[in-house]
Amino acid sequence: MKLSKLFVTLLLGSACAWASAQTIIKFSHVVAANTPKGKASDFFAKRAGELTKGKVKVEVYPNSALYKDGEEMSSLQMGSVQMLAPSLAKFGPLGVKEFEVFDFPFMFDDTAELHKITQGPVGAAMMAKLESKGIKGLAYWDNGFKSFSANTPLKTVADYKGKKFRIQSSKVLEEQIRSLNGIPQVMAFSEVYQALQTGVVDGTENTTSNIYSQKYQEVQKHLSLTNHGYIGYAVIANKKFWDGLPADVRGQLEQAMIEATNYANAIAQAENDAALADIRSTGKTAVYEPTKEERLALKKAMAPVHIKMAERVGKETLQEFYKATGFDPTKL
Ligand code: LMR
Repeated sequence: MKLSKLFVTLLLGSACAWASAQTIIKFSHVVAANTPKGKASDFFAKRAGELTKGKVKVEVYPNSALYKDGEEMSSLQMGSVQMLAPSLAKFGPLGVKEFEVFDFPFMFDDTAELHKITQGPVGAAMMAKLESKGIKGLAYWDNGFKSFSANTPLKTVADYKGKKFRIQSSKVLEEQIRSLNGIPQVMAFSEVYQALQTGVVDGTENTTSNIYSQKYQEVQKHLSLTNHGYIGYAVIANKKFWDGLPADVRGQLEQAMIEATNYANAIAQAENDAALADIRSTGKTAVYEPTKEERLALKKAMAPVHIKMAERVGKETLQEFYKATGFDPTKL
């Protein structure tokens, strides 16, 4: 073979190999597949495959199969995984403390208030702050409002006293438990069931979809529907990886993300409602609905968290949230 012909053959060969190469995206998360985040991740993976016509394959790893929380963020920054959807409480330890404002108790009355932030300029500005950490923020996905569980009834504020509650790694959540005279215990999500079972902690807080899918009803006798705080997610990618994608492929993935976000936010409430019905039907956990007065007492007890943690999340960010939600901790 002549040298020039060999050169052309090699060139064509490598061009074809490049064109047919499939990009693999590892998408790790810590919850079960049958949760709002689990379902939305699978939806995104499917649409990413379809819209890129197989050029991108998204491999979803649920249930902390690859990394538990606490390890997720550094694995994304190092590029061991390309995508994550950590809860908003998980960005404080990364140094982006503003995100802990989502953990402020009773900040949002409902999802409409929340969406004023997550679907508006304040949410976008917060996402942009992740870029300096090598992270590209892609979307906010809803989960829902948290409730407290324990092995003893949780009706009055006094019922929380002296109990050890597992929380996510957020200083605001630590302060929230202290405001009830409880003991906060930071712990990875994947370790909570066993900690509840063995009595390492007395209780926890989470959404009903997380509670049911992690089977807390097997190890918690009481669930109080306090709806005192919010859990939702920032879907994120390794910035270098994302920016390095061919523009057309990136555009298709952005479209898949828009669709997955609409899907996530459309199913979240129904998933949590269904999980609550499932918890009730096990008959293992007594589900308690606090009275208006009991909920107000909880709200008042937790109000000082807003004052104490204002500096941590930044007073400006906090004011933006108050403007959107109408919450005023001094007027309860
Ligand atoms: C938790 O750690 O309790 C939650 O953030 C888990 C999740 O991702 O919903």
